[in-house]
Amino acid sequence: MIIGLSFLVMAGTLTNMLGEYLFEQRVRADRTGLEKWAVQTAPSLYSVDMDKVSDYLGQAGNELSGRVLLLDSDGKVQGDSFGEMNGTRLAFPEVASILVQGRTGDYGVHSLSGETVNTPEILLQRRAGDGWVSLCTAGIVHASQVIGVLVLVSSVNEMMQNLYMLQDNMVIIFVVVALAAILSGMVFSSVLTNPMGELTRGIQRMGRGDFSARVPEKGSGEIKQLAQAFNSMSARLESLDHSRNQFVSDASHELKTPLATMKIMIESLIYQPDMEEELRTEFLSDVNREIDRLSAIVSDLLTLVHADAHIMKLSRERMSLASVVKEAAHRLKPLTEQKGQQVFLSIEDSCDMYADKAKLEQVAYNLMENAVKYTQQGGEIRVSLVRVGKDALLTVSDNGQGISKENLDHVFERFYRVDKARSRDSGGTGLGLSIAQQIVTLHSGTIRAESEEGKGASFIVTLPLHKG
Ligand SMILES: Nc1ncnc2c1ncn2[C@@H]1O[C@H](COP(=O)(O)OP(=O)(O)OP(=O)(O)O)[C@@H](O)[C@H]1O
Ligand SMILES: [Mg+2]
Repeated sequence: MIIGLSFLVMAGTLTNMLGEYLFEQRVRADRTGLEKWAVQTAPSLYSVDMDKVSDYLGQAGNELSGRVLLLDSDGKVQGDSFGEMNGTRLAFPEVASILVQGRTGDYGVHSLSGETVNTPEILLQRRAGDGWVSLCTAGIVHASQVIGVLVLVSSVNEMMQNLYMLQDNMVIIFVVVALAAILSGMVFSSVLTNPMGELTRGIQRMGRGDFSARVPEKGSGEIKQLAQAFNSMSARLESLDHSRNQFVSDASHELKTPLATMKIMIESLIYQPDMEEELRTEFLSDVNREIDRLSAIVSDLLTLVHADAHIMKLSRERMSLASVVKEAAHRLKPLTEQKGQQVFLSIEDSCDMYADKAKLEQVAYNLMENAVKYTQQGGEIRVSLVRVGKDALLTVSDNGQGISKENLDHVFERFYRVDKARSRDSGGTGLGLSIAQQIVTLHSGTIRAESEEGKGASFIVTLPLHKG
């Protein structure tokens, strides 16, 4: 509408300006011509030489291409180049402005169409053609007295027609421009508002907790980028929501198992009061072991929850990674001896770094504990620590059962156990590797697993020595 209206205002101004320009030239020509004849006619009119006057009027009419009338000081026609209107009183404003207001000349344009039959315009119309006439007047002055008025009536029909045509064309162009503006405005706004609407609906769905909400990535530019950003955000939220639910259900499941075992044993103790002392002690120590297991799981869960909430803090200190690895190996000694396994430690560098000693020891312990757990009696475990450039490289390898290719991709996932039944027997919850991964990542390091099924597994940790 704004575009259309401004166009209309512009078109109106332009038509006006053009009209003024065209008329200015015409008025100037008519006025100079008529004034000349007014001067010329004055003496004859004064001396009432009416033959001469009508002769002049005829000449003036020819010269100025119009009808020339001479009015006396009362506004009555005293001469007419067409010889028709003598005696008629013409009360045009252009005449009045000379006789009443005392001006020397005037100019006006009159429409002849739609006038009643008896008006003077109709009389003029007979020769001037239908439509528009211009009236140019000039006072006839003698001895500073206005003794009459010369009136030039000429057709401005063609000029007015041209102006009207121009105006009509402008209106048509205005309508076309306005329609085009409205249409393109509608198209543009729908292009802009549709994706916005879809985004809003998507956000509202997400607000209601539906993380599967996605919006079409249409168009180009910022709107598309916005849609892409929204989709990747909702995909991330959906996966976070899914893993959170999974985590809660896995954790509950893990906690339920030891609780169920404990409940059975305690019930046996309650309902069999005459149970042998030896059996009772065995039951109680089983309950005790389950409690240990529960508290180990709970502390692992807490570690992961802290890592998720980004509140797992590292208490860094100057430390030697070599001594951390040795300490972990030392702690596992009873277990390896029990399984008759051989541990080969190859530590080439002390790998001093500024890091969280307790957490890195947990990483080394988790990896070595896995190697011990998932390797048969009498197996071999190799632990090596070397410095490679600016990194410390810790490798824990064994010659145990190994991990198949499809399982290898998942071992770092929470609660993931390759052999669910067997791992539970050996006390695994499936959290050790994901905790190790979190700790290593927090130290800006990497951890990966390599394995061939049946031929053992290797876990390789890289830790930057000069970070933090
Ligand atoms: N050295 C290894 N050899 C073979 N399989 C392994 C080895 N290390 C880990 N795995 C497999 O990866 C799974 C995940 O290991 P992770 O340490 O996360 O859990 P877990 O040992 O079962 O339990 P947790 O460590 O929490 O007590 C294990 O259950 C096991 O199936
Ligand atoms: Mg483990």
